[in-house]
Amino acid sequence: MLKMALEEGKEPVTASVRTSKILPQKIILLLGLFLVLGIGIPSISMYMIQYFGIENVITYSKSSFQGCFEEPDNLEKWIRPPFSLMHNMSDKALLWRASFVPKVKKYPFNRVPKIAFMFLTRGPLPLAPIWEKFLKGHKGFYSIYIHSLPSYRPNFPRSSVFYQRQIPSQITEWGRMSLCDAERRLLANALLDISNERFVLVSESCVPLFNFTIVYNYLVNSRYSYMGAFDDKGPFGRGRYNPRMEPEVSITDWRKGSQWFEINRKLAVAVVEDTKFYPKFEEFCRPACYVDEHYFPTLLTIRAPNLLANRTITWVDWSRGGPHPATFGKADITEEFLTRIRQGHSCDYNDQPSSVCFLFARKFAPSTLDPLLKFAPKILEF
Ligand SMILES: *[C@@H]1O[C@H](CO)[C@@H](O)[C@H](O)[C@H]1NC(C)=O
Ligand SMILES: *[C@@H]1O[C@H](CO)[C@@H](O)[C@H](O)[C@H]1NC(C)=O
Ligand SMILES: *[C@@H]1O[C@H](CO)[C@@H](O)[C@H](O)[C@H]1NC(C)=O
Repeated sequence: MLKMALEEGKEPVTASVRTSKILPQKIILLLGLFLVLGIGIPSISMYMIQYFGIENVITYSKSSFQGCFEEPDNLEKWIRPPFSLMHNMSDKALLWRASFVPKVKKYPFNRVPKIAFMFLTRGPLPLAPIWEKFLKGHKGFYSIYIHSLPSYRPNFPRSSVFYQRQIPSQITEWGRMSLCDAERRLLANALLDISNERFVLVSESCVPLFNFTIVYNYLVNSRYSYMGAFDDKGPFGRGRYNPRMEPEVSITDWRKGSQWFEINRKLAVAVVEDTKFYPKFEEFCRPACYVDEHYFPTLLTIRAPNLLANRTITWVDWSRGGPHPATFGKADITEEFLTRIRQGHSCDYNDQPSSVCFLFARKFAPSTLDPLLKFAPKILEF
């Protein structure tokens, strides 16, 4: 068998000699076939990949693989609010980042202006249910930011508007510069969402006096920002001015106003970008210096006086006298009381006389929650 095979093996040699004229034709045919297959199969498979959409899967997985390392370069990343509020930027880095302003004024997308509610608190929000009721059904038109003591661990349920709305915070003391730092921190974090247009500072004892529609339209359509700012010639006004703040701050620029302000985006940027006046206020703030009543009103009076309404939007009762305003309890909350603080005033709104002067009120004790919830539908209209 082996011999036969060898012989058979030899056979083609002789055979090839014999068929030497036919073989090249066969080889050319074979080569041609390989050529056709060599070019044909890849192009068929390309066609099949495209036809069955396999190609798409490949390119998709390729771009999502790149996505792990760098953001896709589209507009979305500039207009989407930060994924998590718990970043680890230092205040210095945060204020710098928050001061970014586009040069082109017209937004290239449909921007729905939002109201940023910035809660400056020590810890719990006992009146949270009234805010939940106020905000219900208005998702997309507001944002929430909470600055509480760093040690405070909130336990809002996932369904709450306050869930995971805490910003990185630091110890804050009333009558010290750290209070202004907290307010700037709130503004800077809120500025990171390009859709936030109006910025309202509120405390845990604040409540809304009108429904969201009224509040939203009032603020979004306002020509002015509601920063209380007046020139108090007395000891609690000009008396707190230090002539060594010259030349940055002169006595005629010195203003006093309520800590609880409402400002637009332009003014919020003016606050976070300030590196000129802040050091002066910091240097001459000797506790307790009530710096929160002077820094923001003075800074904005110098920077943009024509944008200020020079009045606050948050009602408070000083009529009982003493160093602190009145705190209201359960027994104070009546229909008459709520109606009076909603409408019983006169002021200018967009240079026209108005009786709606306050959209929020303080100070409300936790015990007022039940009567407030009870009167909300009838009196507050939400
Ligand atoms: C930044 O924050 C993350 C949590 O969000 C933390 O794991 C990480 O250690 C922080 N990095 C720095 C440099 O602080
Ligand atoms: C909000 O309040 C206004 C009047 O204050 C009222 O006309 C309007 O119906 C209220 N909106 C809702 C949604 O309740
Ligand atoms: C607020 O006060 C400033 C001066 O401090 C003034 O220029 C501005 O016109 C006032 N705003 C209104 C609405 O009157």
